Amino acid sequence: MKRKKESIDLEAYLETQGAEIQRALERAMSRLQPDISPDIGVVIQHGLMSGGKRLRPILFISAYQACGGVVSAATYDLAASLEFVHAYSLMHDDLPCMDNADLRRGRPTTHLEHGEELTIVAGAALIPAAAMQALSACAALGISDERSIALTQTLLEAAGAGGMIGGQWLDLLAEGSTPPPERLDDLHNRKTGALLAASLVMGGLAANAVASTLSALDEFGKAIGLAFQITDDVLDATQSPEALGKNPSDTELDKATYVALYGIQKSRRMAAEASARAQGALLRAGVEAPMLLALASFVVDRER
Ligand code: IPE
Ligand code: IPE
Ligand code: MG
Ligand code: MG
Ligand code: MG
Repeated sequence: MKRKKESIDLEAYLETQGAEIQRALERAMSRLQPDISPDIGVVIQHGLMSGGKRLRPILFISAYQACGGVVSAATYDLAASLEFVHAYSLMHDDLPCMDNADLRRGRPTTHLEHGEELTIVAGAALIPAAAMQALSACAALGISDERSIALTQTLLEAAGAGGMIGGQWLDLLAEGSTPPPERLDDLHNRKTGALLAASLVMGGLAANAVASTLSALDEFGKAIGLAFQITDDVLDATQSPEALGKNPSDTELDKATYVALYGIQKSRRMAAEASARAQGALLRAGVEAPMLLALASFVVDRER
């Protein structure tokens, strides 16, 4: 029997899902704000509600749907926990002691608007807030205790010293050096791949996916994570601040990037290969997920 070819409107999907994530973040802010001092609330607002692609929660939703999950407001609340971690990672990434950036998402960075101290505090506050957000959304969704723990653990592990923040440290250590390829891969996999892979696995866990599907989602997530960070390196080397909403700085900071090690053309090729590897992982596992396949292409084709 001939299979009906599904047509994918990725742009519309990104827009509608992004709007749902935005609403979930607004709900989260209004729950968070009464419990914290107003100055911390304002700074969290700056880091969290400033736009961006919302890719991690969108990957979560897409994986959830691919595994048969039917989305509700609470699903978006769960997805939003990933954006808490991501927003904090950017607030801290831009600090003078890290990448010393002054522009993010087309606006002055959080520490420029609100000072370094409050940016550190508000960023740190987002980490436990992310775990609380995930746990309360899991409860609202009626997810079993075992799966709720696994979901929250996946999020926190990806954010931790073996994942994102450990990768951020490797990134700082590697400034001014030319690490061997395996070390550069490890750095990229940790600082960016870990949270992207967690987004996919959490989507699968929330939808009660079986182990083989979870492992395909993990493989997919790791590969698009690498593709995503290679592309971020390429964009830093090729795009204007206006196009990116952030100031290119990798050359000035002497960062160890794919572009520095392999050049622009080869980096583009390697990003495309990683994206194709990701798609292969889903296809091999028989996971029917046209939107995830489209998102794997988006990760490398994007212009910002
Ligand atoms: C930027 O992430 C930091 C990296 C991991 C490269 P995004 O490119 O997802 O940033 P926003 O959220 O869309 O602004
Ligand atoms: C940051 O990588 C990755 C994070 C975990 C925040 P970059 O330092 O390259 O991200 P941008 O280019 O500032 O967004
Ligand atoms: Mg950085
Ligand atoms: Mg940076
Ligand atoms: Mg970058």
